[in-house]
Amino acid sequence: MSKNYYITTPIYYPSAKPHMGHAYSSIVADFFARFKKIQGFNVFFLTGTDEHGQKIQRAAEKKQMDPLTFCNELSKTFKDLTKTLNLSNTDFIRTTENRHKKSVINLWNILEKKKEIYLSKYAGWYSVSDEAFYSEDEVENKDGLKVSKLSGSNVEWVEEESYFFKLSKWQEPLLNFYSENPNFILPESRKNEVLSFVKSGLKDLSVSRKSFSWGIKVPSNKDHVIYVWLDALTNYISALNYPNENADLYKKFWPATIHLIGKDILRFHAVYWPAFLLAANIKPPKRVYGHGWILSGEEKMSKSKGNILDPIEIINNYGIDPLRYYLIKEVSFGNDGNISKEKLENCINSDLANNYGNLCQRVISFNEKNSNLKIPEKDKFIENDLKVLDIFKSNHKNLINYIDNQDLNSYMNFIIDRLFSANKYFNDQEPWNKKSDLKRLNTIQYVSFELIRKITIMLYPIIPESSLKVLKIFGIDEDKIDFNSITNNDYLKPNTKIKKINILFKKIENND
Ligand code: MSP
Repeated sequence: MSKNYYITTPIYYPSAKPHMGHAYSSIVADFFARFKKIQGFNVFFLTGTDEHGQKIQRAAEKKQMDPLTFCNELSKTFKDLTKTLNLSNTDFIRTTENRHKKSVINLWNILEKKKEIYLSKYAGWYSVSDEAFYSEDEVENKDGLKVSKLSGSNVEWVEEESYFFKLSKWQEPLLNFYSENPNFILPESRKNEVLSFVKSGLKDLSVSRKSFSWGIKVPSNKDHVIYVWLDALTNYISALNYPNENADLYKKFWPATIHLIGKDILRFHAVYWPAFLLAANIKPPKRVYGHGWILSGEEKMSKSKGNILDPIEIINNYGIDPLRYYLIKEVSFGNDGNISKEKLENCINSDLANNYGNLCQRVISFNEKNSNLKIPEKDKFIENDLKVLDIFKSNHKNLINYIDNQDLNSYMNFIIDRLFSANKYFNDQEPWNKKSDLKRLNTIQYVSFELIRKITIMLYPIIPESSLKVLKIFGIDEDKIDFNSITNNDYLKPNTKIKKINILFKKIENND
């Protein structure tokens, strides 16, 4: 089994400041990246910005800026956000970088040489906001405007000379590819959407634009810029030093383990991207996972709808770990999820402050009073101890499977159950009533510390900053975290000193 894991986020349009939807894609990708790292994999985690195309050109014009200066400014806010969100990304790619342009030009040349691309004329609808071509049956009239039925965004009529990619030719090979790789598109519901789109017939795809200039020029015809999606999708291989297929990174990490994306950009990733790659004789990625949307009220959160919850404001008020925990727990992965400040506050109070924070504080203060901040010697475990400890071992494989199938919800439910059962164990065992049986008192403490250690390791991919504070109690540094050690019931060495920690999560007072 390959021990390499390559995960990507979509590269974001720096047309405006990042919002919660962007933060969500990145946080979830970071969760998977961190998990695989502590499972012992070599992880390459890529994110970045998608800077060409008409959408960006228009956004720059509106600010009366040249597009590159505009992108430099906004791309920086996305790069800064990787720090604010505490992402563990290996690289941050910008499509305006030379390494990327080189890669796109190479891919284009291969496609042209293989006669997968031809010059013709496009006459049809285009949405600048989606950077997507739509057919007549994909648009409708709404309030006197033509809009896309799929995204609701405005479309405009475009008639211009254009290069086309022979997508129609790839319909059958794509269908074969999907059936040979049944988990290529997840979740299942999205796969069905894609299959019916492909089965309904693929038309050749316009892959260049002529009426504006902000993009990578078609090498053989400088009047055209390469369609921004062909440009953008290539980022996933340019970061691995493509076209150098002998580069270490490329050999190790391509094909990607998973492209994590929002459901609105599934067609580009699950249809166009594998078709381009198959046509260029490059292996497609192993998986495309389309997550749901973050909703505010009942609508997708987006700049054009003006219903944005600003991630920076939330982080400044509540901290990054609460936001990460909340998004991962409350938005059922794969589905849309409604978020609100009120629900975030409840989640901080009940799960983080009461359940997890309290468990840590109780066990440490009991230890301080009774064992002088040291891991106590344990006696033999009794059945009640083994019941709470062994469940990590008996579920170890399941947990890894959850992650490998992006079943975040089951992973999360397991943690929440463990938190409840650890608190219950401490209550039921009543160590404070065992002063006359020191062996038992010490064993209860030992088990409780082991439970905290195991749960905290599982929480690390979700709330890395807080988990590291807790693991410091036991002297475990970040590079020593080993997911497999959750199967071990006597990892902690008796008599080692433990460190006290401050309150992990403050309860939010409700002033209403
Ligand atoms: N630039 C393209 C992606 C190119 S990838 C080769 C793009 N950029 S985007 O900035 O518009 O969106 C990036 C990601 O953010 C998409 O996965 C999109 O689904 C996600 N989100 C944008 N708004 C969202 C929500 N309200 N909720 C969840 N994610 C959403 O598309």
